[in-house]
Amino acid sequence: MGVSDCHSFKDFRALAKRRLPAPIFHYIDGAADDEVTYRRNTEAYERCDLVPNVLTGVEDVDMSVTVMGQKLAMPVYCAPTALQRLFHHDGERAVAHAAAKHGTMFGVSSLGTVSVEELAAMVNTPKMFQFYFHKDRGLNDALLERAKAAKFDVMALTVDTITGGNRERDLRTGFTSPPRLTLGSILSFAMRPSWALNYLTHERFDLPHLSDQVNAGSNLATSVGDYFSTMLDQSMSWKDAEALCAKWDGQFALKGVMSVADAKRAVDIGCTGIMVSNHGGRQLDGSRSPFDQLAEIVDAVGDQIDVICEGGVQRGTHVLKALSVGAKACSGGRLYLYALGAAGQGGVEKALGALRSEIERGMKLMGVTKLDQLTRENLRYRGV
Ligand code: LAC
Repeated sequence: MGVSDCHSFKDFRALAKRRLPAPIFHYIDGAADDEVTYRRNTEAYERCDLVPNVLTGVEDVDMSVTVMGQKLAMPVYCAPTALQRLFHHDGERAVAHAAAKHGTMFGVSSLGTVSVEELAAMVNTPKMFQFYFHKDRGLNDALLERAKAAKFDVMALTVDTITGGNRERDLRTGFTSPPRLTLGSILSFAMRPSWALNYLTHERFDLPHLSDQVNAGSNLATSVGDYFSTMLDQSMSWKDAEALCAKWDGQFALKGVMSVADAKRAVDIGCTGIMVSNHGGRQLDGSRSPFDQLAEIVDAVGDQIDVICEGGVQRGTHVLKALSVGAKACSGGRLYLYALGAAGQGGVEKALGALRSEIERGMKLMGVTKLDQLTRENLRYRGV
């Protein structure tokens, strides 16, 4: 099986499973507790059916959108995710080039593995920085200043990781960053020699946004859950979010809003966007899926702020459903991370290209030529 055999999300997942050492694959693939929320994030789309219209003349389809001031050629972008050079030695560089090729945005995490400066010099496509609010205020200031100096277009403050999620697969595999060889993991790395060779022969693993300031996470083997629980500031409040938003003074989003009350508050503090998200099911298991929660949030704030539906997207039709409810766009991590792990830049290009084709085909079959023609009239919920 190779990348030429991959046509869908599930194909890339299968290839990533064959190519990545088990602890790394399960770090991407896993979620919190019983992974109920993780599964539901996708199942929610499957409980909702599309009702197409016909005979509308659909030879020219326009799927461009403007999200938080950024013009995107497709209504899906690559959500920021951490540690990408563990998945493929090109990491964020591969994702940046692939996103640019498809005219869409990509996100870079505070826990990213290629610097904002390098990425900014490399591609012109819209860029989002994912901010983690640390106890160390000097580090927070440095993160903001670097993203600003590198002219990142959107700042997204993560609000759903106030403590580490219970990722039991990581506990079982002993996943750490950088990878630590343990009796349990040594075999899984030895069984994926090409990954191991690439990891060892490319530049040393680093978290360039943190390594000047902290040791944990860049030089010490730490689990992501430990990092969240020990390094991030659990006293983070609306006041802090408002201050950061003012300091950034540009497109600013809260990533991980799930309630209507919080969505309204995001508007009040000056945000221009929110990602309705449960962090891919990796934090609070048992929380609702973003798609199920979308309608009430769009009804409350959709005319004041850009609402992005994040998580669970595996198909173009999932995107069409979210946009029918009123999301401006969708974003996701796994939708490009399996492809990154499986095949680097070429993989991500192909995964985004497949989503793009599915969206275009889905629009034509739905009888729409522009995304704003999608409405809730086109949806029916099964069992309601
Ligand atoms: C995670 C963080 C790093 O979910 O976003 O693992």
